[in-house]
Amino acid sequence: MNLDLVAYLKKQSDFVGVADVEEALVGGDKKKKAKVPAKARLSNDALFRDIEALIAAGYNIEFHPYLGVKLIDIPDRLLEHEIREDMNTERIGKTMRIFDEVESTNETAWKLIEQEPSLADGTVILAEAQSAGKGRMGRAWHSAPGQGIWMSVVLKVQLPPDKLAILTAAASLAIANMLQQFIHLPSEIKWPNDVMVRGRKVSGVLVEARSNQPNTFVMGIGLNVNQTAHDFPEELQGIATSLRAERPGAQPVNRVRVIRPLLFYLDTVYRLIHKKKFDKVARAWAEFVPMGGKKVKLSQGDKEFIGTVVEVDPAKGITLRLEGGKETKLFAAETVSNVREA
Ligand code: BTN
Repeated sequence: MNLDLVAYLKKQSDFVGVADVEEALVGGDKKKKAKVPAKARLSNDALFRDIEALIAAGYNIEFHPYLGVKLIDIPDRLLEHEIREDMNTERIGKTMRIFDEVESTNETAWKLIEQEPSLADGTVILAEAQSAGKGRMGRAWHSAPGQGIWMSVVLKVQLPPDKLAILTAAASLAIANMLQQFIHLPSEIKWPNDVMVRGRKVSGVLVEARSNQPNTFVMGIGLNVNQTAHDFPEELQGIATSLRAERPGAQPVNRVRVIRPLLFYLDTVYRLIHKKKFDKVARAWAEFVPMGGKKVKLSQGDKEFIGTVVEVDPAKGITLRLEGGKETKLFAAETVSNVREA
């Protein structure tokens, strides 16, 4: 793929003629141009072949008989050079591995960690589809081709044992923040880590650790992007949603344009974790958890607690003031099957 051509076409706001493209790619400078051997210059044929290749890769390019060519849109495909455009992260996505289909990007991440001991902190694994996507609590995660962002990030960081929950919080915070600020969707975090838009789950996080790989974590993120309501299996209808479903006009969303800011937001929050600013992450996460001060009923196993939420914290759990005034803590690590307003 001629990436110079892609870069050039992106810069043009209107149609460009073949001669302009040739001039730009070979170099406007006459001296420089003279040094380029004639056969290295773009001929019409070569240019058309390159454009055909871009179209075959999914680029939407318009032709005009007199005016030339114009790039209308980039493909909704996991192309590394597109995801990397203007990328300015410190760790997240410096290394990327992109697959058409894997069983689970989390599993692929663990395999890579085993095979490549020097695998970089922040390595991102993406797949167009997962055949056995994993959700929390042994559930399956529906990961149809092209419909969402199925991604795992390898994290190599030393954390105090009581702070491990900060990684899950960091992921849900980055997703919620990105959706709010970048996609302009009203997002909330349903304790402990489901990202919700208008009461429906749009994204889930599954962070894993393995005892034979100390200070190494796999942060799995599933973000529903282009499903329409009936793409979800029956049991998820009314519970799950996607960015497309929540957008005015339900227009499809290009996943590349979502992955770029997602990596940026993840990197920002991951920097805080490397700097051990756990409280800062926890406070920002709590801003998205709409429970503070609310009277709630929590079920945990067969026990039910009714009280007012005093504090929510990724590591410390929910502090609940019970009706008699006594305070109790419920931890994310325990199974809380239902959190709802009383
Ligand atoms: C949840 O149950 O809410 C967590 C879902 C996590 C799904 C993602 S998709 C990418 C990564 N690979 C997996 O197999 N699971 C996570």
